[in-house]
Amino acid sequence: MQYLCYSYRSCKKPPIDAEMALICPETAFVVALTRGDKLAPLGKNWPFLPRGSYLKTMIKFIKIDNTLLAIRNNVLREGKLSHEECIFPTDTLPGAFHLGYYVGDELVCIASFHPQAYGEFTGVGYQLRGMATVDEYRGRGLGNQLLNFAIVYLHGQKANYLWCNARKSARQFYLNMGFETIPPEFEVPDIGPHYVMYVKIQ
Ligand SMILES: CC(C)(COP(=O)(O)OP(=O)(O)OC[C@H]1O[C@@H](n2cnc3c(N)ncnc32)[C@H](O)[C@@H]1OP(=O)(O)O)[C@@H](O)C(=O)NCCC(=O)NCCS
Repeated sequence: MQYLCYSYRSCKKPPIDAEMALICPETAFVVALTRGDKLAPLGKNWPFLPRGSYLKTMIKFIKIDNTLLAIRNNVLREGKLSHEECIFPTDTLPGAFHLGYYVGDELVCIASFHPQAYGEFTGVGYQLRGMATVDEYRGRGLGNQLLNFAIVYLHGQKANYLWCNARKSARQFYLNMGFETIPPEFEVPDIGPHYVMYVKIQ
């Protein structure tokens, strides 16, 4: 499955075969592209993919809907909650956004972000919540790419750091992404041991 991208403006540049693009649905701006191993944020002067460009997979800004809530429920809460219970109060804060990784038409990896300072940290902080990849797609680097895109986007939003309450079981995933751990370990009722982890955004 590949996506054919339509530009909303005429563009004289040749089509691109990128691995993936991060696309803002409201503006249809492409925020960043991957080419090979490289992540390439696009400049303000050229935020569109040329007509005829193809993408294999896509990361999109998404809204809270039942598909996202079902992934939160199944992956993060063992399917024990109702969809309503999977809505975070922070989901609708000003500046909050949600990213989804699509393989074909299927949403397979999600993460949510909202502006939130941590402790005494200075600068603009965002908190990551609800990071989840559906079982069949885990361990393929999708979570890594989704979070990488988020960091590129947050860099553009002048954010200085991203932090989360990381499950101990996911700690290595965040360490691989360059996050650092703030001890001590703490317990979240019904879920298990966690660490606060953060990554500086430069
Ligand atoms: C944590 C989670 C979101 C990671 O998502 P993911 O899409 O599996 O992440 P990645 O594939 O990028 O990385 C996972 C592992 O796959 C490995 N990996 C990365 N790219 C890979 C690739 N191309 N091929 C094979 N393995 C790869 C990574 O080395 C990583 O190893 P780790 O176990 O040391 O972390 C996912 O495991 C998940 O949903 N877990 C359950 C819910 C959860 O704990 N969420 C986090 C709450 S804080």
